[in-house]
Amino acid sequence: MCYSIPGKVIAVKAGRAIIDYFGEKREAHTDTEGVEVGDFVLAQGGVVVETVPDGAAGEILSSWQETFERLKARDLELSNVKPPKEGVSEDIAAIMERVLEGETLTKDEMLRVLQTENSSDTQLVTFTANLIRSKEQGNSACVHGIIEFSNNCSLDCAYCGIGKSNIDLTRYRLSTEEIIKSAEQAVKTKGFKALVLQSGEDAYYTTDKLKEIIASIKKRVKVMIALSIGDRGIDDYKALYEAGARGALMRFETSNEGLYSALHSSPLKERLDTINALKDMGYLVMTGSLFGLPGQSDEDIVDDMLLTKEIAPEMFSSGPFIPHPSTELGKSGMEALTLNKALRILALTRLIDKKGSILITTAFEKLFGVEGTRRALLSGGNSMMVNLTPYPYSALYSIYPGKGSASELGKRIEFVITLLMELGRSPSEISVRGAE
Ligand code: 5AD
Repeated sequence: MCYSIPGKVIAVKAGRAIIDYFGEKREAHTDTEGVEVGDFVLAQGGVVVETVPDGAAGEILSSWQETFERLKARDLELSNVKPPKEGVSEDIAAIMERVLEGETLTKDEMLRVLQTENSSDTQLVTFTANLIRSKEQGNSACVHGIIEFSNNCSLDCAYCGIGKSNIDLTRYRLSTEEIIKSAEQAVKTKGFKALVLQSGEDAYYTTDKLKEIIASIKKRVKVMIALSIGDRGIDDYKALYEAGARGALMRFETSNEGLYSALHSSPLKERLDTINALKDMGYLVMTGSLFGLPGQSDEDIVDDMLLTKEIAPEMFSSGPFIPHPSTELGKSGMEALTLNKALRILALTRLIDKKGSILITTAFEKLFGVEGTRRALLSGGNSMMVNLTPYPYSALYSIYPGKGSASELGKRIEFVITLLMELGRSPSEISVRGAE
């Protein structure tokens, strides 16, 4: 992001560098040739994207030090407030106590936390998650940009507004040049260091075309590129990795096989195999599920969290389902997910994966607004996305209704940065996983 700051490499081993940021240690994959101990580097999305000459690094760091210290102090102030006691259920208090002592939550305990309807319980749970985030992850926040380059999709997932049978939707495709330009601009003028290129499953963009797009972007600017393009063959993903893609965003959507099959045209196993294959290929995987789906039980949600943890992604990217009126699921009446429950899901994710990077999805922001997003950042979340899809296409990428952001890009970026900094977060993202 605009505020990326250089860190000093203090160790390099097996393709990974340990980087020091004002005394905080982070780990990142070394994507740049010849990263050595003593170098100053910029890292994003878990990948070193650029080395910075010593002189320039020194200048940036001295101008940042004061802000960095101020943000850190603010985070500590917010995360060390007195925990709520009044009205908290005894067993919830005991569970949180155990988590803070380093114990692993049982599935029953997770379910209990998920299902409590007592708002004091929710307060304590989210407080605990925020405290753990602050202790284990510090105040760094990851801000990725996302470019939705095509809303054409050959699938028909029951929840998704861009599924092929939605005949009311105007379809668009960005040209190769438009995609490259958008990415280049995002990096050069807005300072993004990590971009997600997303589309429906659209065979128009052949693997050769995507290779060309990735390679051209990487030639023009230093950036971490993640793909969110759905299922492609292993060989295709391998070729895209070789072209320079490093991240892959692919959710498993739900861990309940029956529910998965009811919503998709292929089985869950296929999706999980792809996710695991992507990991094996070296992709930094972002994954997770949808929560609040009709037919999904609380047990399913707990299983989803545990499955995400088992996959050990670079980033947890689960988010709420928002009914879309043009879809099968949009027509079925369902109980709306409450903000408190959504916050407990985020918090539980933090409680079971202390060092994880946890995304507050754009769907979360849409559903619960600014206040919801602010509370999510104080409930274990530590990562955000900014939609960079050029106007007028952004409004057409309607996986859920009203998805396109109304505000112009500059304002949207400022909103995210201001929100993060008000809460003492440093949008200076480094690695997604803290160094052990
Ligand atoms: N509400 C929320 N998220 C949705 N997605 C698709 N449709 C919806 C919806 N109605 C999510 C899916 C997919 C991602 C790209 O968008 O989880 O993986």
